[in-house]
Amino acid sequence: MSTLLDVGRTHNCGELRAADVGSEVVLMGWTHTNRDHGGLIFIDLRDRYGLTQVVADPSYSEDAHRLADRVRSEWVLALKGKVIARPEGMANPNLATGEVEVRITELEILSEATTPPFPIDDESTAGETTRLEYRYLDLRRSALRENFLLRHRATQTIRNYLTENDFVDVETPVLTRSTPEGARDYLVPSRVQRGSFFALPQSPQMFKQILMVAGFDRYYQIVRCFRDEDLRADRQPEFTQIDVETSFMNRESFFGMMEGLMAAIWKETLGVELSPPFARVPYDEAIERYGTDRPDRRFGMELATISDIAAASGFKVFKGAIEKGGVARAMAGPGMASASRKEIDDIIARAIELGAGGLAWVKRTEKGYESNIAKFFGEGQLEEIGARTGAKVGDLLMMVADKPEVSAAVLGQLRQEIAERIGLLEGGEKKFEFCWVVDFPLLEWNEEEGRHFALHHPFTAPVPEDIPLFDTEPTRIRALAYDMVLNGLEIGGGSTRIHQREVQRRMFEALGMDDEEAERRFGFFMEALSYGTPPHGGIAFGLDRIIMLLTGSPSIRDVIAFPKTQRAVCLMTGAPSGVDHLQLRELGIRGAQPPR
Ligand code: AMO
Repeated sequence: MSTLLDVGRTHNCGELRAADVGSEVVLMGWTHTNRDHGGLIFIDLRDRYGLTQVVADPSYSEDAHRLADRVRSEWVLALKGKVIARPEGMANPNLATGEVEVRITELEILSEATTPPFPIDDESTAGETTRLEYRYLDLRRSALRENFLLRHRATQTIRNYLTENDFVDVETPVLTRSTPEGARDYLVPSRVQRGSFFALPQSPQMFKQILMVAGFDRYYQIVRCFRDEDLRADRQPEFTQIDVETSFMNRESFFGMMEGLMAAIWKETLGVELSPPFARVPYDEAIERYGTDRPDRRFGMELATISDIAAASGFKVFKGAIEKGGVARAMAGPGMASASRKEIDDIIARAIELGAGGLAWVKRTEKGYESNIAKFFGEGQLEEIGARTGAKVGDLLMMVADKPEVSAAVLGQLRQEIAERIGLLEGGEKKFEFCWVVDFPLLEWNEEEGRHFALHHPFTAPVPEDIPLFDTEPTRIRALAYDMVLNGLEIGGGSTRIHQREVQRRMFEALGMDDEEAERRFGFFMEALSYGTPPHGGIAFGLDRIIMLLTGSPSIRDVIAFPKTQRAVCLMTGAPSGVDHLQLRELGIRGAQPPR
């Protein structure tokens, strides 16, 4: 048994300062580094709070020195010792505890350690696969640990802010029915009800609306959601939402309250003062100017529509695209007229990879507009494109004429990638550029499935005066939906909800569900709506994405303690895994071949 453990820590490893010189302390932690210098053994002892240099000096304790000689990387130690000032010139200004060291009088080894597969330091270059497999070792690195300390401060702030504003934290089920948010469900078989399945929630959407019917008025939950979808740097199969719903609030007051939530988070975690209200960008305008509904507004390089010029030009590819109902768009890359042929070819190849038929370019130089296609444009036409895109001498015009959604998406994506490459995102003062994207369409037509889909989800209310369009032009119905976008990333999405049963029925109908199917899947929900439903609405923020942006992490995996890979597996536990036949038999599942 450890006796020092009984005595207890007097300080953590980040705490001792010059003022503590002379005191006797008990420290515990991990061996970060250890080295022998002329008979003195120096150990950097590490814990969550920092590093402290401790020294085994035989003239203080021969026993401790003998034991310290055995110690290896990552062994866990407890020690008692005396705080002394480091000798002249030996202080380490980069370390909070750098003015002192602890001479050991008593040492205990609490735990030995196998040699770690990679060194525990922030410069470690170990591959991500190894780091995910040994996640507990990776989490010992201070850079990664800081992300979770910040995440904790953020969730505390969220809870405080929402509690102060009368929100109630209510838990909703994890074993539930399918909630339509556009991804595949994770299913859980029921043993008791053979052949039936629970779905893990893609979001608590219907439950939070039902809590409004129940009169809770303001609800929030920091809640895990599950979506079986293709993973990217900003997506995980299980992720956390700050889920919010309110009754009787108009949109402006609701926006103000959510902007206040962001301001509180930024202030508490980074000390940054945001300045709400955030800009409101209508969906159509976002597509026109940025080619995406997630505009990154930290830089310009906006898109311009040039279909009229393309149609009037002699450039056959452009003319043809416009005749087929396409849209031509252009943007100017600042300073990019000096790009080499190879660099331009790479941009063209990327545009094709993104789905465009091609990309046309024109350089604006001292001499005018230069390009292999300049000859197809008449007097003043290239000048007009230059004027619309704001091209200056030295810029490169890039143009795509294609289906409306293709020319927008391709230039929108290129805009982002080029801005990052040429350094438009550097420079501090506009680091966090928030906006609300509003006025989304309610429905979109899916060519492959031959039916309408809800752009947000089926509970989003249409703009009331657009309701008659259900009978004529459903895709023209505007939704009372909104996204919060930060630096080109969608960090939250929500809407005013349908609160009348009849409108909800029409919405299901527009989605191709007949009354019978709507009743089977959502009967309980529609019935709830009929018992006195207050006008309500809400939002869900992606907590992991917010923490990613706050910490400047390149991947969502850096802010989730035990994340899954791009192939949706956990390398540490090996989940998902096969189960034995007996378990499958009890569940009434046949045919599944568990891997050995
Ligand atoms: P939505 O589907 O837009 O809305 O999700 C809300 C926010 O959750 C985050 N998010 C994700 N984060 C990480 N990994 C994922 N796979 C993932 N999917 C979504 C995004 C997104 O903005 N019930 C509605 C909200 C509402 O209407 O109130 C909903 O879930 O940041």
